[in-house]
Amino acid sequence: MSMSTDGYVTTPDGWPALLADPVFTSGQSHGIQEFLQDKEAALMGRTTFEPALSAERWPWPNLNVFVLGSHRPSGTPDGVVTDSDPARLLEQLRATNRGGNVHLVGGPRTIETFRALGALDKLELVVLPLLLGGGMRLTPSLSPDTGLRFEGQRTLPGGSVEIAYALTNG
Ligand SMILES: NC(=O)c1ccc[n+]([C@@H]2O[C@H](COP(=O)([O-])OP(=O)(O)OC[C@H]3O[C@@H](n4cnc5c(N)ncnc54)[C@H](OP(=O)(O)O)[C@@H]3O)[C@@H](O)[C@H]2O)c1
Repeated sequence: MSMSTDGYVTTPDGWPALLADPVFTSGQSHGIQEFLQDKEAALMGRTTFEPALSAERWPWPNLNVFVLGSHRPSGTPDGVVTDSDPARLLEQLRATNRGGNVHLVGGPRTIETFRALGALDKLELVVLPLLLGGGMRLTPSLSPDTGLRFEGQRTLPGGSVEIAYALTNG
């Protein structure tokens, strides 16, 4: 998850914080390619998924995509699995998994949903060198009782810092 230095994961008008960073929009990846190397699926909420349907480029070309939502958005490609029930969606994801990791893209409500099911084991934040002044935070959607243990960090082009935490009570 990308996050501004003042703690927002979205811009005030609801776009992922990353999109406000000129380094990202000029084509640098913030480490996403390395991050995706061991991933075989992307899992996300309907709100996060829908903008991808009108994006210039499909954001998850090499991943199986799973979407949690009460309906299947119009224009959803055939291979994308959608379900309104998080436990059932998780079952489908596990049934097709070949041992690779799953990128839980977000947003905060979907992260909390799968955390509460015991299916979240890492939280990786990319803290961007910018302030947004408003937007959505990870909490309260993500339970503030979530326990975090520092695992590692790396600096990224343009001054962002990636911080990885293991969940201690996920
Ligand atoms: N900074 C980042 O890296 C990053 C990454 C991803 C997303 N985001 C941002 O996060 C924002 C969206 O976050 P969000 O938390 O509001 O939405 P979200 O998690 O993307 O999607 C929420 C939707 O998922 C479904 N859902 C979630 N939990 C559920 C549950 N327990 N049972 C059934 N359905 C459930 C519901 O779909 P229905 O309404 O269809 O029932 C719900 O409306 C966007 O503005 C996006 O830009 C930021």
